[in-house]
Amino acid sequence: MSTQLSEDADQESETERTETPGDRRRAAKGGNEPSKVQESTETDGETVRLKVFRYDPEVEGKMEPRFDEFHVPYEKGMTVLDALIYARDHFDTTLTFRHSCRQAICGSDALFINGTQRLGCQTQISDLKGTVRVEPLPHAEVVKDLVVDMEHFYDQMHSVEPYFQTSEKPSDELEEQRQSRENREKIKMSTRCIWCGACMSSCNIAAGDNQYLGPAALNKAFRFAMDDREGEEMHQHRYDILDQEHGVWRCQTQFSCTNVCPKDIPLTEHIQELKRSAVKNNLKFW
Ligand code: FES
Repeated sequence: MSTQLSEDADQESETERTETPGDRRRAAKGGNEPSKVQESTETDGETVRLKVFRYDPEVEGKMEPRFDEFHVPYEKGMTVLDALIYARDHFDTTLTFRHSCRQAICGSDALFINGTQRLGCQTQISDLKGTVRVEPLPHAEVVKDLVVDMEHFYDQMHSVEPYFQTSEKPSDELEEQRQSRENREKIKMSTRCIWCGACMSSCNIAAGDNQYLGPAALNKAFRFAMDDREGEEMHQHRYDILDQEHGVWRCQTQFSCTNVCPKDIPLTEHIQELKRSAVKNNLKFW
């Protein structure tokens, strides 16, 4: 099921296409009454009201997308992920979402929280106002509840060959592949990517062009294209990958990826720098 949110989609004639679960989810976002309320024993002033997207295509009676409400006892320092875990453990064990490290490192709990892509484990409940609305990442197929299919995202990442490949080896076989301090500084921020997919989900261009490499893959391309240890041959190979129709030129500098990146990577700046280098790379002097 697609979570792609398109302004235009709402304007399409209903007679021209059949209603998808994604349409029903958008309709649910418009304010349908939640289907279920789980009350905790705490008073409202001490509880977090979670409104969580639910969908299970494999269970009869749960195939219709809906929102469930959970009232979770609030504790100082509680994150959205903590609240989801509480709701799952105390109210509904079928509530499904990904998480692992709980410290903004693994990137598995990127969610759409109160209308923005964020990591559940990095988002403090105290920083949110009112009801906390939790949905799966937009522009990705929903597998179940808050879990989306990341396959396409990983395919785009792998297409830029996100690993070090040098065509110039050190003369001594025991010698390390050394990098200058300045060069390390240049790529430092790009190495912080945790593959959470928040940037890709926020990108309107990626939403409309399934072949677009996307901000995360381009950031990864930047990390290696700017690494001066790979040598000329690999350098050219890197530019052949990113300087193509669905590559770096698709970016329209909207900064949505930069705004949602949980690791504060200047993704848009990196993409702009790749564009400038691609132009320089293509300059020919006669
Ligand atoms: Fe690993 Fe949030 S659980 S990044």
